[in-house]
Parts: sequence; structure tokens; C-alpha cells
Amino acid sequence: MRLLLTASLVAGLAGSAVAHRDGPGPVRHRKSLGFGPVHKHAKYVSTPYQVVTNAFTRMSDDSDPIQVARLFVEDILGNQLSESSSYKIRKDSYTDSNTGITHVYVRQIINGLEVSDGDMNINVKDGLILSYGNSFFAGSAPSHLSQFALDDDVRHPHQEFCDGLIDELEMRYSSFLASEADQVVMGDAAAPAPKGNKAMQHLTHVHHSNCRFQQLPLKMAAQGSQDLDVRAPLLQFMVAATPSDAVVNDILSNYESHLAQMSEYVDVHHFAPSDEMPSLLVANVPDTVNPVKAKLAYIQVPGKDEDSVHLSLVWKFEVEMQDNWYEAAVSAAAPHRIISVVDWASDAAVPIPTPDTTATYNVFAFGLNDPEEGKRTIEKESFDTLASPVGWHSLPYANDPSFQGVKSTSKDFYRNTTTTWGNNVFAQENWEGQNAYVRNYRPDAGKSKVFDFPYKPKETNKTDALEEAQKYINATVTQLFYTTNMIHDLYYRYGFDEVSGNFQQYNFGRGGQGNDAVIANAQDGSGYNNANFMTPPDGQNGRMRMYLWNTAIPYRDGDFEAGIVIHELSHGLSTRLTGGPANSGCLPFGESGGMGEGWGDFLATTIRSTANYSDYAMGSWAANRVGGIRNYPYSLNETINPSTYKTLDKPGYFGVHAIGEVWAQILWVVSQGLIEKHGFTDTLFPPAALANGTVPEGDFYRPASGKKPLVPKHGNSLIFQLVLNAMKLQPCRPGFFEARDAIILADQTLTGGENFCTLWKGFSAKGLGPDASVVLRTPWGGGVRTDDFEVPLACDTY
Ligand SMILES: *[C@@H]1O[C@H](CO)[C@@H](O)[C@H](O)[C@H]1NC(C)=O
Ligand SMILES: *[C@@H]1O[C@H](CO)[C@@H](O)[C@H](O)[C@H]1NC(C)=O
Ligand SMILES: *[C@@H]1O[C@H](CO)[C@@H](O)[C@H](O)[C@H]1NC(C)=O
Ligand SMILES: *[C@@H]1O[C@H](CO)[C@@H](O)[C@H](O)[C@H]1NC(C)=O
Ligand SMILES: *[C@@H]1O[C@H](CO)[C@@H](O)[C@H](O)[C@H]1NC(C)=O
Ligand SMILES: *[C@@H]1O[C@H](CO)[C@@H](O)[C@H](O)[C@H]1NC(C)=O
Repeated sequence: MRLLLTASLVAGLAGSAVAHRDGPGPVRHRKSLGFGPVHKHAKYVSTPYQVVTNAFTRMSDDSDPIQVARLFVEDILGNQLSESSSYKIRKDSYTDSNTGITHVYVRQIINGLEVSDGDMNINVKDGLILSYGNSFFAGSAPSHLSQFALDDDVRHPHQEFCDGLIDELEMRYSSFLASEADQVVMGDAAAPAPKGNKAMQHLTHVHHSNCRFQQLPLKMAAQGSQDLDVRAPLLQFMVAATPSDAVVNDILSNYESHLAQMSEYVDVHHFAPSDEMPSLLVANVPDTVNPVKAKLAYIQVPGKDEDSVHLSLVWKFEVEMQDNWYEAAVSAAAPHRIISVVDWASDAAVPIPTPDTTATYNVFAFGLNDPEEGKRTIEKESFDTLASPVGWHSLPYANDPSFQGVKSTSKDFYRNTTTTWGNNVFAQENWEGQNAYVRNYRPDAGKSKVFDFPYKPKETNKTDALEEAQKYINATVTQLFYTTNMIHDLYYRYGFDEVSGNFQQYNFGRGGQGNDAVIANAQDGSGYNNANFMTPPDGQNGRMRMYLWNTAIPYRDGDFEAGIVIHELSHGLSTRLTGGPANSGCLPFGESGGMGEGWGDFLATTIRSTANYSDYAMGSWAANRVGGIRNYPYSLNETINPSTYKTLDKPGYFGVHAIGEVWAQILWVVSQGLIEKHGFTDTLFPPAALANGTVPEGDFYRPASGKKPLVPKHGNSLIFQLVLNAMKLQPCRPGFFEARDAIILADQTLTGGENFCTLWKGFSAKGLGPDASVVLRTPWGGGVRTDDFEVPLACDTY
């Protein structure tokens, strides 16, 4: 069936990764594409006094925030709005229950189609617009659908990305030759990376596999016709996306039969009326694990002449592959060019019963980063009554995937489990490295729920190392379940709750989309020396894969290094909070993708830090390298960590992990300033709520006599809160400047701005002062930057 386009139907490389392993087991290459148009016209306005337009003035305190946002949008867009050019307020907009700020997400609509990168986020409180981001297309709408931007007029993000990749690879190649040390990059490539001539082959392969431009035979050019075939552009994307040369060769040599086999059907089985445009589902697409979702949309592509922006009609695909989950935009007009790719994978009024048995776990307690920092102890299921009201081992039968399609005979609403299976997390082994998880092995602790399993890995020869590691699967799945639940509860208490898109099967009627617990795979067989997390939009399970590390004998198990688990879970946090729960494309590549990595490092490091200051490296234990897996440890000492904003210009800073490291280092310096001013708390967990749901101040919050917002008292808890609040305030696809400004605005709204100068002092110390700048940006985050070490005038005497 071909899609006939009629009016009625209009309805994430930075990491060029090749997994390399010399252990036993299947070898698989994971690669990840990520690039897209640069939006020079996008802006973020974050100081309330800047937010003034012609007619719009502050409304009364009790005005409906959605209505305030609507008036504001109409005021800003003014005569840009017409019958063919409009907007919609997204349903995943929400009000933060602590700060009272309403985060409103707006999508641009032209000719009935979404502009997939036409986003506004508007932050409203008490009738006032606090800040907003806007990347709407400002030109005039094309007169009809089949009008395409001419290929010659626009830049080609994929081509530019590949040009950048060549430079990067040459740089890496020279350092490989120079270096005797193995290279390890978490969530990017795996260790040990090859050296010498092998490195050259490896890098050539990386470039070749990411930059396939073969133009497939044209089935139907869309010239003037309204007959837009979805299959040809989809195959074009698969050629670029698949890591397998065999799949590419198969597509090229059996092109006609692939086209014939791919079948399309319309996904219109909405139970309730929906204003979503229907998606097509395309089955039998090579190298995918589920049917591909496809819909037509517009995307904004910069023109070849500076400052011009064109609208391009694209097919938007959601492509689930074994190791990637892509959201891609491919030109609907032949020739089919890939315009943007985001990999969602980064290397989820019934009475509430109180569980009668509390589980216990023999684990490295929360706060211990890895086995070198302490011993395992018996820890309780310290479920938080706000975050996990039914504990960690209960979930409704209706939301339990192991009952899918099977009608439960229980009269009970909740099912109680004695395994690592609950409302927040499904934890299990995944030795086969496949996608199925429901029937995978997980420990059963019986009625007592005592998860006490041995962990004493022995030294073996290399052949037996894998088998030896697998003997401790009970202990490792228990640890992964424990750490993931602790993070769920901790992040919940700082505002990553149901409405803001957290990962839970059941949302207790508190809003947001359910059925999206984290699927946590221990000892995943799809790789070594790495970990990754896939974050689809709210309502679909996040998937975390933890690997063994063959960096030592006995093998080291990533599940036991909390920092790696926290880093991965933080991808879920930042992706869901930035740009709203339903948009997983807001931290795609470049600076925003880099910050997606950086927040994970920063939060993991903050969680492990103690009252006595220390520098910390990421992943040292698993990687068996004192310096860890980044270029530098996080440190206040500029000799130990010299990174500043401008460091991003250096060769080697093409990938999101290197960019993220700079952002995490900046946040580390900023956080130490707040700790110096406000002191340090030994626990980041806020006090338990009282029976009536009130949260006591304890020694954790500032005295507020029950009034909101609750403000953490100490420097480390305060920066935690500011960082999470800022993720909600910042625009889709933020750069370092927007993320910095959002943190400063978060402080303004939380404390009245008392840390304005402390925060600026930290940012400026790392070159991110008010006059820092970037020019000549590229589709993956390149550019030329200028550091600014000055603080704002108001802080001069500070
Ligand atoms: C699950 O545990 C809760 C609390 O202990 C209890 O109220 C409920 O009946 C249990 N459900 C089943 C199916 O046993
Ligand atoms: C490794 O150790 C096992 C058990 O000690 C032994 O059976 C096996 O032959 C050894 N393999 C190698 C390659 O040395
Ligand atoms: C895991 O625990 C179960 C239940 O206690 C036990 O039967 C099984 O042998 C354990 N598995 C391993 C690999 O030790
Ligand atoms: C911090 O350092 C001080 C002095 O060196 C020491 O007395 C104290 O026990 C340390 N605290 C922690 C938590 O390590
Ligand atoms: C910073 O680190 C260098 C290198 O380790 C060391 O020589 C220097 O003393 C340190 N500076 C401070 C202020 O601690
Ligand atoms: C909740 O309970 C505490 C302690 O009993 C009490 O001080 C507080 O006023 C109560 N709050 C509400 C909102 O009822």
C-alpha cells in the first residue's frame, strides 16, 4: 500500500562507536548517529524583565497559567499566525508542585503538519512569564505540502557532520599512535580500543559506516505529485543507520524486494479521541526490532546563505534497532537526505496499601561508589512514602508486563513480588543481549524478601572469567535493583515526579504517562566495558544496559559501580525534563547532547562526595584506571582539570562525552562555591513525609513553616535542586549558555536570587561568564568559542 497524501490524512555521532571485545561471546558493533540543523534564530529569554512584548503585560496572580501562555504566544507570534500557520499547547505541560512554576510546551503547526523543531517552552508563575525559549520558523508558510526547499539552497547536516568526523578521526588516529594506553570512553566506544594499523582500520570503518551516502534507486520522485512514498526514504536511512555492512549490501542488492516486503498500516487505534496526527507503522524494515513509526512533518534547515532558514518536508521516523532507538528526519523529496538524527539511546484512585514486609538487600550502600570504597552491608527497602508509596516490590496487575494478554484472576489490584520486579524497575540478567526481558532470570528472595546473596569473585584464567562473573548474578541484579530504586526515590524528591515524566509502571493517579518503569539489564551480553540508556518519550519504558568490564581478572561488573548506573539513569532524567516529558529529542548532539552526559557525571559525583572535599574520576574501578574514563578527574585544581568553555574547540571534543566532561567540571566548580557558602549535608535525601503528607523541615530544608517552595539548606542539596529545576526551565536543544541561565533563573525563583553572584563566580571561573560567545556552529556542536572570566557588573565587588 502506498500512502496517498490527502487533506484528511494530514492528520541521537557524536559517538562513532565500534564495540571491540576480545572476550568470549558474540561481537556486535554499536554505533550512534547524532546531528541536525543548527538553529541560529532560536532564542532563550531568561530574565523576567526581558520578557516584555508589545501588548503583553503581567496578568493577575491567579490567572490560569495555560491561558497566560496562550496569550503570550499569540502576542509574540502576532501576524505570523494564520489559517495555515498555528500552534498547539502540548498535553505534557505541567505545574511543578514545589516551585509552583507551570512549564508549558508549544509545538508549531504549518499546513496541519508539525514543525518538528518548532518548539516553545514557556515558564509561567503567578501570571508572570519567567522565561521562554522559541525556535519557531519565522518565515512564511509554504503554500502547499508538495512545495519543497530546493536541494541546492540548503545546507546538508549529514555531509557537514561527516566532514567534521574526518577531522576528528584523524586527530584520534594520531593520538592512538602516540599512546600506548588503552582508550576507554563510556557510552561511546568500548575499551580497549585498538592501536597502530588496527586503529587506522577501525577509524576508517567508523567513518565508512556513519557516512554512507549511497543514493538508492529512485522509486517515485515526488515531483509535483502528492504521492509520497515512505519506504524509499526509510531504506535510505537504514543504509546510513545500520552498523552492519551485510545489511547494507542486502538492501542495495535486493532493493526492489525490500520495498515490496515493507508494509504500511495506519496506527489509528486510539481509544479516546486524539488530536495527534496519526502515524503510519511500517513493518519488515531491515535491521529493526519493531515496526517503524512514520509521519510527515516539516523541519527547519539553514540555507547556504547566512541567516536564511528553509522549511523542508520530511518523514519523521522512530526506528527501534537492537542497540539504538532513533528519531530521524529524512527529506520526503528525492533525493532523500537525512536531515537530523537523534539517538534515544545514550550510551523509565485506588487505596494505597502499605507493604507489610520490608525487603532487605546485601549491597554496597547508597553513597559508596564502588567495591573499593567499602563493604557490602544489609540495607533496607527504604522506600519513600512519597516517591514509592507501595514500596519497590508491588505493582498493579494491570500494569505488569508479565500478565500482558493474560487476564489476572486476582481480585487484588496490586501484585506483590518477591523478585527484583516492581513499579519503578524491572531488573534482570541479560546474558544473551537481546531485547526480551520479561522471562529473563532474576533472583527470588522468597516471602521474607531477604536478598542476601554471595559476592566473592575468584581470580581465574581469561577463559573462565565470564563464567565466574555470571556466578554472582543474584548479587549483581540485587545491587542494580537497589541502586535504581534509590535513584528513582531521590530524583522524585527533587521533582522528577509523575507529571514531569518519571519512570513508573503505575502513576497512582498523579498524572503523567505510566507503563514506563526502567528495564535494567545486568551483565548485558551485547557488549563489554560500557553501559547505555535508551529514553523514549514518557509512557514507554526506559532501557538500561549494564556491561561487564574485562579490564581486570576477575571481571569487574558495572552494576557494582554506582557512578555508572547513576550516569545512565540521569540520561532518563535530563531527557524527560528538558523540553517536556513527551519530547525525547531535546538533548540530541553537540552542546545539548554533551550536557546530557555531563549532568550524569555531575550528579553521580555529587552523590558520592563527602564533607571532606576530594577530587573524583569517573569509572575508575570498572575501567581499572586510576584516572578513570574521562580526560581529567573532576577537580578544583586547574592543573589537574584545566577545562574551560573554550576547551570545546579543541580536537577531540567532537563527541558528547568530551563535551559533557567540560560541563560537569563547570558544575562541579559552581557547586563547591555553594557548599562554601551554605555548608554540606551528609544525606541528599529529604526527610520522610509525615502521615498527613507534610514534609518536615528537619535539618534539610530552610524553615518555611509549611509554605512552598521548600528550599534545601545546604550547598550540595541546593545545587542538586537548582540543576533539576533548571532542566525544567531550559529550552529544547539548549547550549551551555541557556543551561547556565536556567540555573541562575532557578535560583531566582527558588531563593529570590540570593546566590546570583556565587553562581556567576563559579561559571566565570571556567570561562562561562556573561560575555562568553560562540560563532560558526556546526550540525554536531563544533564552533569557535571565546571564554569570559569576568562576573556581571553587579557582582564586581563581590
Ligand atoms: C500485597 O500486599 C498488600 C500489603 O501488604 C496487601 O494489602 C495486598 O493484599 C497484597 N496483594 C496480594 C495479591 O497478595
Ligand atoms: C582455565 O582454567 C580451567 C579450570 O582451572 C581449565 O580447565 C582450563 O583448561 C583453563 N584454560 C586455559 C586456557 O588455561
Ligand atoms: C541464586 O539464588 C537462587 C535462590 O536462592 C539459587 O537457587 C541459585 O542457585 C542462585 N544462583 C547462583 C548462580 O548462585
Ligand atoms: C574529615 O576530615 C577530618 C580532619 O581531617 C576528620 O577528622 C574527619 O573524620 C573527616 N570526615 C570524614 C567524613 O571523612
Ligand atoms: C594542583 O595540582 C598540582 C599537580 O598535582 C599540584 O602540584 C599543586 O600543588 C596543586 N595546587 C593546589 C592549590 O593544590
Ligand atoms: C501534618 O501533621 C503535622 C504533625 O502532626 C502537623 O504539625 C501539621 O500541621 C499537619 N499538616 C497539615 C497540613 O495538616
